[in-house]
Amino acid sequence: MPDRSNKPFIETSRRSLMQGGAALLGISILGVASRTGYADTARTRMDIVSFAKDSSRLAKFEGAMKEMQDRSAKDPKDPKGWLANANLHRDFCSTPGPGDPAQIHFCWWFLAWHRAYISVTERKIRELSGDDSFSYPYWNWSSDRHIPAAYAKPGSSLAKAVRFPRTNPSGLTDGEVGYRRDDPDLEKLGVEALGARLFEAKTGDDIPFSFGGIARPNPENAYDNNALEDTPHGPVHNFCGGQKGSRVGDMSDFQTAARDPIFFAHHGNLDRLWETWRQDPARKSTEPTTDAFLNHSFVFKWLDGAPIEVAMSDILDTTKLGYTYDYLDVFRPNGPIVVAEQAVPDRLAPIASQKLSVPLAAQGVDDGSRKYLEITGVANPNEALTVSVYLKPANAAATDTGTEVGTFSAVRNGGKIDWPSSRLVFDITAAARKFGGQELTVELIPHRIGSDADQKFVPLKYQQMQIITKRP
Ligand code: C2O
Repeated sequence: MPDRSNKPFIETSRRSLMQGGAALLGISILGVASRTGYADTARTRMDIVSFAKDSSRLAKFEGAMKEMQDRSAKDPKDPKGWLANANLHRDFCSTPGPGDPAQIHFCWWFLAWHRAYISVTERKIRELSGDDSFSYPYWNWSSDRHIPAAYAKPGSSLAKAVRFPRTNPSGLTDGEVGYRRDDPDLEKLGVEALGARLFEAKTGDDIPFSFGGIARPNPENAYDNNALEDTPHGPVHNFCGGQKGSRVGDMSDFQTAARDPIFFAHHGNLDRLWETWRQDPARKSTEPTTDAFLNHSFVFKWLDGAPIEVAMSDILDTTKLGYTYDYLDVFRPNGPIVVAEQAVPDRLAPIASQKLSVPLAAQGVDDGSRKYLEITGVANPNEALTVSVYLKPANAAATDTGTEVGTFSAVRNGGKIDWPSSRLVFDITAAARKFGGQELTVELIPHRIGSDADQKFVPLKYQQMQIITKRP
């Protein structure tokens, strides 16, 4: 079998030495090569449910995780420790604001940077576990709406994290994982974000419709959540970390998120969905080909504390990074049908609500255009938040929950919210067809985050809600 596992890192470090870039000084070819020089096994990243069926494989993973956690407990600075690895994520997002040039969220680095980070992390575990076939197992939250057993078992190193789980509902809802049951076009995507046709957003307004985000830097200095980063990315963070009083769990704050081993399983699934999306050659062909993207590299830290550099040109092909996924379907093939916990008995009061008139749908003409609910001038909510948006006829009974048209979230970063989304858009095409010509009520209903039964939410401030039409 060809040696595909260590190539990217070696090539990258050679190039960097030739370029002699200041940030890259101190990387030794031999050092990096020997640290990542694994045997030439083709590796498959597995759904944790299949991964955990082999108890000795799981035990090696747990053992390496425990060793890293124990090292950090003794010495928080130990480069072999789990905390040192987790802090790499903190360091790449603890920038002065969401628009900072070094920020890897809210722009085209989002998928790419996290892919590189998971890969570095899994190589560390591979080395420490002595399991050469190890690949970090992912969590398919479309199929499994609770944190999987292996990541939740009390006493397991994989469950060692601050989490404040909620009880009502205790699992992720359809909205939180971007599954849109009520719209036949979106329903078949499994995850709504997979409908994005372009990787790169050309303007700030396009970012929520793009799969991979906008270039950074860009002329407008625009930034925002790309489609997948918005949902399910944010809601799953808040779900895993939760909240209790003023404290939030690890996953609910970007500064601490990567301390929870589930972080890499969550991002593993986002990374897998990137592969799902790029199976379509037309979509894949929209991935960036400019030097500004491909020649960019990020520097992480290896187990001995030495820098390890990953170039973006080396991560687009996962086989070059040394892995593929066991399956690319959104839902686990042959898995049980997911019964979502939609019937929330104590649906919370809306944090915003407004009446809107839907234009009459054009009869018999389908030009492929879609209708969106656009909310502009949305102020930073200043609290961790996951919110679902519902539409119903204005004269519907108060007990009518309406149709869910989308979900958004605010995730903390160092206690505050880096709020990138002053504009929110939700595809309401199916609902607009159904309710054409009627007056509607839009309701923004918060999801409970965490274990507080009496969690209070403040009203969301915004300037305007309207319905817009967009052609694909
Ligand atoms: Cu860098 Cu899910 O966060």
